Amino acid sequence: MGGRAVAGVAVARILAIANQKGGVGKTTTALSLAGALALAGRRVLVMDLDPHGCASAHLGVFPEGLAASAADLFLAQEAGQAPWDKVIRQPGSGLFDLAPSCPRLADLDLDLKDRKGKGIVLRQALESGPGYDHVLLDCPPHTGVVLVNALVAADLLIIPIQTDFLALHGVRHLFDTMRALNRVLPRPIAYRALATMFDRRAKACLRVLALLRDKFGERMFQTVIGLDTKFREASAAGKVVQELAPDCRGAGEYARLAEEVAAL
Ligand SMILES: Nc1ncnc2c1ncn2[C@@H]1O[C@H](COP(=O)(O)OP(=O)(O)OP(=O)(O)O)[C@@H](O)[C@H]1O
Ligand SMILES: [Mg+2]
Repeated sequence: MGGRAVAGVAVARILAIANQKGGVGKTTTALSLAGALALAGRRVLVMDLDPHGCASAHLGVFPEGLAASAADLFLAQEAGQAPWDKVIRQPGSGLFDLAPSCPRLADLDLDLKDRKGKGIVLRQALESGPGYDHVLLDCPPHTGVVLVNALVAADLLIIPIQTDFLALHGVRHLFDTMRALNRVLPRPIAYRALATMFDRRAKACLRVLALLRDKFGERMFQTVIGLDTKFREASAAGKVVQELAPDCRGAGEYARLAEEVAAL
C-alpha cells in the first residue's frame, strides 16, 4: 500500500487521521506518528485541516499573523497554483513541517460550493506539492468538504478509536461517509483502526479492545496506544511527545505504529 506515482514521479504517501467523534486522539496521533516517522528518517508534513487549529497551537503556531494557511491550498484556482511555499512552516521541533490551520477552513463548504471537482482539490494540490515521504492530514471532527477531500486524497485512513464504552459511537458516521465516497472512487478507501487511550488496568477497556478486534479484524493496528500523561504535558509544552519524553511508553507505542504503517 505505497504512495501513488504521478507521471512516473513518486508522490508522498497520504495518511488521513479521522473520526467524527471528538477527543479520540486524532491530533495526538497525527503529531506523534509524524514525530515517530520523522525520527525513522522520513520527510514528513502535517496538514492541520481542523479550523480549531489544535495541532498548530500544539506546535506553537497560531493563525494571527500567518501569511497563508492550509485553507489557501483549497482556494487556489488551479492545483499548480497552490501556494505551498507560503503555507509550509517549520515549527519548533524541526522534526517535520506543518501546513497550519486557520478559521477560514470552516468557510470552505461555502467557498467551494460551486467548484467543479470540489472533492479532489486537496488530492490535486498534493500531487503538485512539495516532496515528502508522508503527509499526515489531521482532520476535523465533522463532516464537510474538508473531510471529504482528506478521505479522497488518502492512501490510508487511520481511525483512532478511544477504548471506552462509546468507542464505536461516531465511527458509524465515518463509515457512512466512506460508503458514499466508495461508490464514486476508483478504489475503496483503505483504512485501519487504532485503539487509543487504552487503560490496561480497567477491565472495561479490555472488553472494548476485544470488541474492536472482533469488529475490525485485520483492519486493526496491532499497536495499542495506552493512556499516558506525557501527551498532555507535551501539548502544554508546545512539543511532540518524542521531544518531551523520548523514552516514555507513548513515544514507544507511536514508534511501533510507525513501523506498522511503513510495513503496510
Ligand atoms: N494516549 C493518550 N493518553 C492520555 N491523553 C491523551 C492520549 N491521547 C490523547 N490524549 C489527550 O486527550 C485530549 C484529546 O486528544 P486529541 O486532541 O488528540 O483528540 P482529537 O480527536 O484530535 O480531538 P478533536 O476531535 O477535538 O480534534 C488531549 O488533551 C490529548 O492530550
Ligand atoms: Mg483534533
